[in-house]
Amino acid sequence: MNIQENIDHLLEHLQADLCEVVDSQTLEALRLRVLGRKGEITTLMRVLGQVPPEERPAIGQLINDAREKAAGWLDTLAMRIAVHERTEALARETIDVTQPMWERRLGNLHPINLALDEILDVFTGMGFEAVEGPEVELDLYNFELLNLPKNHPSRDAQDTFYIEENIVLRTHTSPVQARTMLERKPPIRIVCPGRVYRADEFDATHSPVFHQLEGLMIDEDVTMGDLKGTLDAFAKRLYDPDIATRFRPSFFPFTEPSAEVDLTCVSCRGQGCRVCKGTGWIEVLGAGMVNPKVLELCGIDSQKYSGFAFGMGLDRIALLRYGVQDLRLMFEGDMRFLRQFR
Ligand code: DAH
Repeated sequence: MNIQENIDHLLEHLQADLCEVVDSQTLEALRLRVLGRKGEITTLMRVLGQVPPEERPAIGQLINDAREKAAGWLDTLAMRIAVHERTEALARETIDVTQPMWERRLGNLHPINLALDEILDVFTGMGFEAVEGPEVELDLYNFELLNLPKNHPSRDAQDTFYIEENIVLRTHTSPVQARTMLERKPPIRIVCPGRVYRADEFDATHSPVFHQLEGLMIDEDVTMGDLKGTLDAFAKRLYDPDIATRFRPSFFPFTEPSAEVDLTCVSCRGQGCRVCKGTGWIEVLGAGMVNPKVLELCGIDSQKYSGFAFGMGLDRIALLRYGVQDLRLMFEGDMRFLRQFR
């Protein structure tokens, strides 16, 4: 085979192989095979030495032409492949805006907080300010200043968790009353929501941790009528104007006189049902006129001022509001239950 035939064969072979190239890698391999330092064309150049000197220029020219041709083909294909590969990469990296989103789980308020928000709305609308106090409380505020001296029999009824001899987990929100009276001068109008603790069973209606909302109003000439009017307005605003309140005489060391307050059963509207055990009433609060002894212990002149106070269980109200039967659901943190309140 002479050199011309060799070159023709080489170029034909190259053309056929170029048709098979699929990406820039196979193309580079081909370029190396033909134009590389040990490539086919370079090898031809070496043969030039064995050619008679007078034929060398012409044959050298042939080989150079072949090299340029091959390089031209390879470059053109390299450009096409680069464009193709870029287009493919762009298509691969494109965001599919029609792809459905994964579900974003937003949080929601706990049913007790939902009920509390509604209750606070009603009281702040009547001019009460929300105030909070510590859950780890001194015996002084939780008992002593509320007219519950050491060895007072009602202390037993509270099943207190003691941290130290004089430090307790507050058994009610009433200590916030005492703290506020010591800090401020009348007129005072506050509500105090919060967690409270008692060594109770954990069952469908009891929990060692639960929630209360305390109310306190102190001014000149505050009467039991103001207490009744306030709680009645509260019940009607929270539920609806058909709801009535009923006061039954009771006893608390920190109030005198004291009452237990019932609302028309919101479930049966007073007809009598399972929720109200057939009575038509549900008990939601304790209340009364602040005992003058408590006013004096907390630095308020009981000759000049009087006041009323009340304490309600928030959990009961939330259960009734959302028709939940078991108090434990409120504390177990089961997301399947909690997510229903959005
Ligand atoms: N502290 C009482 C309790 O936990 C509830 C209560 C009753 C609060 C009467 C008051 C009140 O402020 O006047 O059972």
